[in-house]
Order: sequence, then structure tokens, then C-alpha cells
Amino acid sequence: MLTGKRIVLVISGGIACYKSLDLIRRLRERGARVRAVMTAGSQKFITPLAVGALTADKVYTELFDREAEQDVGHIRLARDTDLIIVAPATANLMAKMAHGIADDLATAVLLATDRPVLVAPAMNPKMWANPATLRNVETLKRDGRHFVGPNRGEMAESGEAGLGRMSEPLEIVAAAGALLRSGSQAEAAKPLAGRRIVITSGPTHEPIDPVRYIANRSSGKQGHAIAAAAAAAGAEVTLVAGPVNLPDPQGVTVVHVETAREMLAAVKTALPADVAVMAAAVADWRVASEGGQKIKKDGSGKPPSLEFVENPDILATVGHDEALRPKLLVGFAAETQNVLENAQGKLTRKRADWIVANDVSATTGIMGGDANTVRIVSASGIEDWPSMDKQEVAVRLVQRIADHLKRL
Ligand code: C5P
Repeated sequence: MLTGKRIVLVISGGIACYKSLDLIRRLRERGARVRAVMTAGSQKFITPLAVGALTADKVYTELFDREAEQDVGHIRLARDTDLIIVAPATANLMAKMAHGIADDLATAVLLATDRPVLVAPAMNPKMWANPATLRNVETLKRDGRHFVGPNRGEMAESGEAGLGRMSEPLEIVAAAGALLRSGSQAEAAKPLAGRRIVITSGPTHEPIDPVRYIANRSSGKQGHAIAAAAAAAGAEVTLVAGPVNLPDPQGVTVVHVETAREMLAAVKTALPADVAVMAAAVADWRVASEGGQKIKKDGSGKPPSLEFVENPDILATVGHDEALRPKLLVGFAAETQNVLENAQGKLTRKRADWIVANDVSATTGIMGGDANTVRIVSASGIEDWPSMDKQEVAVRLVQRIADHLKRL
């Protein structure tokens, strides 16, 4: 079941290390190639010699090892693998993983990897129950790390029992198999393969003069999450992003813009597409005549007055242009009142197919926050979604888009 799979086994320092030796055998019996990375701590319990004898490969222990760096190097070790298993994972190693610390080879590999990671914790029950450990586990789960165990039972220390025993090697093998299977199913599924999607995200900045601008509180988290989810679903994604403090999502073509007019131009260039999702909080107005020089106080005590003009509405422009309009056009409605009414109005006025409506009143914490509560408004009705992570909203929306396209 693991035939041909490449697995990197990270062994950190706990008494459960002795089970890692058996784990290597069980993985290899099933056809996996195992390369081991050992922390200094783990070498106090078991030797690289024993580990190497079982993996039949070099054992990797040093971050700054010239020979190993020339041979595979920590980056390739992190990437040229189908799965990384951390067993045992001590509380200390998990804390480092959760905080992005890379002060040895094991943690550098874990920070550098974009492959699935399966963590098998092993520690004293008091360490497992410590709020710091629980926080780190939560963080790692949110980061997409997978867990197997720990189990409940006797500890190696006499008289100690509880939750903290490392899962048995065969349990870890089963979890690894399930993870690799679900990964390859997801790979095969790619429900948006062959589809093009254009997404807008973030705020726009509208200049007043060379140093000042008008902005809004949009973080871009929701739009960027949709771009990432669409790319993960196999779509060819162009993300037109206003100024945000977020990294470019992986596997996405990102066009960075500042103003609404730049955003419209970039969207027009990126179209045609199968789907457009306009999640950006585009400024409705800009200053009529942007000053070429910084506006100064004139000593009169009277503030300058700014004249505004309306920005182009990107969603409405695309919605009303038959040549540009994709098969599915999705807009957002961030409202502080009358959410549904306003969303329904936008649906018809801007000729969108769906409006993802949310209440962004200050008390909801949605603007800039990590969670979102949305309703999908379309001609066929209103769908209420429970409150969830912006990433979950993105995944669900992408799934809904894929289902819709299949039916067209
Ligand atoms: O009218 P309102 O700004 O609330 O509309 C929100 C929807 O319209 C969002 O999908 C937003 O991205 C889009 N929009 C746009 N261009 C504008 C204003 C809004 O594309 N100038």
C-alpha cells in the first residue's frame, strides 16, 4: 500500500524513539523508501547507526553538513518526498514547529516543506495537557498538519499513566496510508481542472496627493483564500490584488494594483474566464483631481475640501459586458445594515449570478478578522452558511462553483 512512496521520518528525542525503529521496518515492509532525520535529542536514545541500518540509507542529523547539503540538502529533503512523519514528536519539537523555528535540520526540513506532515506526539501526560502544548497542537492543526495519537496508557516512567503515549507503529502506518490515499484522491479530483478564474481581493487605495490616500479596512483574507482554494482545486487563477499584507497564494498568477481604475484594467486584461469572483472592497469614490504636490495647510485654519468622483464599478462593468462576462459571476456584499435587501439589489443591478453577503458591522469582527458568516444570494434563493473560517468559506465556495459549472 506504500509501494514507491517516499517518506521522511523525523525522529525527535523521547523514550518512544525505540518504536521509531520498528516503524521504519513496517513502512519499508510495505514498499516505502524511508529517509530519517534525527534531532540531537533522539540520538541520546537511539543511534544513527541503528536507524541507518534499518532505512538502508544515509541518516540526516546536521543542518550545516556540507556533504549532505551537496547531496540532497534540507530543501530537497523537505520537498522530494510524498510525506513527512514526525515520530515521536516531542512537546518541544511541536512548539518549534508551531512557531516556525528552524534551529536544526529536523525543524528546518519541517519549515521548508510543502508536503503533508503527519505528527505522532509522545510525551508525559502533564506535558500533553499543558495549555502551551494544546495551543501549539491547535496551531499546527490550523496550519494543516495531521495528527495520529497520542494514546492513553502507561508511560515509560514508573507510576505515570494518561494521554501521551505515542501511537503504535502500525497505527502510524495506517494513518500515513490514509493520508497518502486521500492526497492522491484529492489530486485526481481537482474539480476545477481546466477552468480559468479571475478573482479580485483586498482594498483599493485612492490617492489624494502623492503621500495621502483613501483606503478601507479590507484585509484581502477572504479573496486570497478563495484564490488559494481555486488553485488547489486545479483552476488557472489570476488574482488581482489591491494593497494587502498577505503573501501571494501558491500556484496563482497575482497582479498587484493600487486603485480601482487599475483593478478594472487588470480584470479586463485577465478576462475572459469561466468564473470571476469579485471579493475586493473597491473604493466607491476617488478624489476628482489628484494633487501633483502634497496639499499643505494654508494658515487660514480652514481644511481643504476634496471633491469626489465615482469609481468604475468593476463587477457591474463585467456583468453588463457580454464579451467580458464569464459563465459565472460572483460578487460580494459587505454591508452594515439590511444585508439581504442590499445583496439582492446588487444581484440585479450589477448582473451578478451570486452575491456572497456578509454583515461587516464593527461588532461582527469580520472585516480584517479570520472568521466569516455568509449567505449566498442568487436568483434561486438564499443559502445561509454557518460561521466558519475564511479558508473554509473559500473551500466551500470553490466546491459550489465547481458543482455549478458541472451542471452548465
Ligand atoms: O456596491 P458594493 O461596493 O457594496 O458592491 C460590492 C461588490 O461589488 C463586490 O463584489 C465588489 O468587489 C464589487 N465592486 C466592484 N467595483 C466597485 C465597487 C464594488 O467590483 N467599484
